[in-house]
Amino acid sequence: MLLLRTVKRGFSTRPASLYKVTVLGAGGGIGQPLSMLLKLNTRVTDLRLFDLRGAQGVAADLSHVPTASVVRGYTSEDPEGLKSALTGTEVVVIPAGVPRKPGMSRDDLFVKNAGAVQGLATAIAEHAPNAAVLVISNPVNSTVPIVAEVFKKHGTYNPRKLFGVTTLDVIRASRFLSELRGTNPRDEHVSIVGGHSGITIIPLLSQTGYQMSDEQRKALIHRIQFGGDEVVQAKQGAGSATLSMAIAGARFAGSVMDGLSGEADVVEAAFVDSPLFKDEGVEFFSSLLTLGKDGVEKVHELGPVSAEEEEMLRECKETLRKNIAKGVEFVKQH
Ligand code: NAD
Ligand code: LMR
Repeated sequence: MLLLRTVKRGFSTRPASLYKVTVLGAGGGIGQPLSMLLKLNTRVTDLRLFDLRGAQGVAADLSHVPTASVVRGYTSEDPEGLKSALTGTEVVVIPAGVPRKPGMSRDDLFVKNAGAVQGLATAIAEHAPNAAVLVISNPVNSTVPIVAEVFKKHGTYNPRKLFGVTTLDVIRASRFLSELRGTNPRDEHVSIVGGHSGITIIPLLSQTGYQMSDEQRKALIHRIQFGGDEVVQAKQGAGSATLSMAIAGARFAGSVMDGLSGEADVVEAAFVDSPLFKDEGVEFFSSLLTLGKDGVEKVHELGPVSAEEEEMLRECKETLRKNIAKGVEFVKQH
């Protein structure tokens, strides 16, 4: 149900609250299909596409799609391009940055993507300080803290409106579990908590109630945690997940807009400034959230976890503390 929600609503004819949405990195592998899916969302009236180059072409192409929104493209070749793409916007989605090649971890992308994300966050703080900001660029566990630090420096930080997008892990888990059970993925819901990289991705399979052998469960956990590697390897150096990520990003952006519009019971997972493990030094954590008019309305508790999941959580928190500190430190140094 959740996977289809955005798509179904995207074609809905009911009156909707309307939003200006900006995609930063719109010319890329994720940016293009994500922009297309946002063009199909009737909540979006004004779609601004920004990239270092090529965004005008994507915008011209999408502007022929017969939905009511206006689409404009901006590049950094125009010194005012980023400012124009951001001024007055209400939702910013960031798929800008370099993707992995085989043999790389997401953390290896930090060197290239940290600076790009910091620069974009600075522009958002200056030109769209009230926007909801959805970070896709990897490593999410560190790029989200980078954005938060930049916003703090500018006095514009609103923890309720900053999200690391982890929806791809959620849709993968539905799909992989459904393959195992022979069910429809729309009927499979797995709570994914932690972060967005390897062992920090924790599927709380014990909560699904589905009985698996130890071997099946361990294989499923591994597949959910390392699903990104499957795609990176299959693409043989040409990048990482783009199409499934576009679906995931469009669904999450759609849910954020549903929440902002005042729709009730909009629940999604994302990596946010979270109270859950702050007392253990983990400032950001992904778990289910209720999304509302001001962004995050409620951070849900994890619920009951098995001994195995408890141990995974311990290791996850250890890694997250380091990933988060790396992002915070980067902004202090630059
Ligand atoms: P891509 O190389 O195909 O596209 C990235 C785009 O970003 C390019 O068009 C590039 O010109 C643009 N860009 C780079 N720096 C920019 C800047 N400073 N301002 C504006 N645009 C800029 O890569 P992709 O496959 O679309 O992946 C993008 C990012 O998303 C990667 O970091 C990847 O690891 C990440 N990703 C995250 C998830 C997730 O679940 N959160 C899933 C898949 C990929
Ligand atoms: C994913 O989960 O597919 C993304 O984070 C991209 C990657 O590098 O695996």
